[in-house]
Amino acid sequence: MNKITIVGCGRVGESTAQILAKEELCREILLLDIQPGVPEGVALDLQQSGSLLRFDTRVNGATDAAAMAGSELVIVTAGFPRKPGMSRSDVLDSNLTIIDTIVDDILRHAPDAMLMMVTNPVDVLTWRAWQRTGWPRQRVFGQSGALDTARMTSFIAMETGYSVKDISALVLGGHGDAMVPLARFTDIAGIPIEHFLDDAAIRRIAERTRQGGGEILALKKNSSAYDSPAAAIASMVDAISHNRRRILPCVAILDGEYGQHSTAMGVPAVLDQSGLVEVIELKLGPEEQADFNRSAELVRTDIGHLT
Ligand code: LAC
Repeated sequence: MNKITIVGCGRVGESTAQILAKEELCREILLLDIQPGVPEGVALDLQQSGSLLRFDTRVNGATDAAAMAGSELVIVTAGFPRKPGMSRSDVLDSNLTIIDTIVDDILRHAPDAMLMMVTNPVDVLTWRAWQRTGWPRQRVFGQSGALDTARMTSFIAMETGYSVKDISALVLGGHGDAMVPLARFTDIAGIPIEHFLDDAAIRRIAERTRQGGGEILALKKNSSAYDSPAAAIASMVDAISHNRRRILPCVAILDGEYGQHSTAMGVPAVLDQSGLVEVIELKLGPEEQADFNRSAELVRTDIGHLT
């Protein structure tokens, strides 16, 4: 890719820029923020790490949205983060206005881009961005499942002591407490997870995964997670930038898949240079589908509150 814009110069935005630059996933990164001086300063700092970390990626900063012109991908991280005790839905109202403004900027200045939503509540705001752009779902998607799945994977590695490289897990549903970790689609080196862990351990890991963001927020108190969210975003960008056709859990607009219409939820999807080109529909068991439906209902309730 030639140019990626990251909107929002908070911790997630900055950490994401750091990984994308280091991995040389595009020629130019533009950091955009409304606070004068901040994106320019962060960009300069990152740029100066280039000679040490050995990357040629250009990193620029701007407050004028017009600078995003020519971007192939816009990653939206801007917004108010939640505070301890808040759910992701609690920041919906404050982030809605911000997202609407950003989406309008994208429509004006980068009308051919793909849009990756990260700001919470990510399912609802991905749906909102999709509606407001009028673009095909291929070009409007969100990050959450890559992070939730990474959390589940690392909890399994911590519990079993096996290499995280051999562990493959799957988390579907909305990015909230009702997300759906799927043990049936989780394995270590191809061997079903039940071979290594009993039911109680699997349930414990699933619950810790559901609360994964909250656990970090409760510990840090003044900040949500940002290292693993940034790495999760980078894994999606890598799939797009290298046209890999990776199957990653993404927030996708559902058009009948999993029995859901006109909503946005975490599901496995194929990412290539054109964006989210295919939703993979799994045959869920009755209990798995019921969990998925419960999560969908919560997202739908939030979508219903949008004006
Ligand atoms: C998390 C927040 C950022 O899951 O949604 O850490």
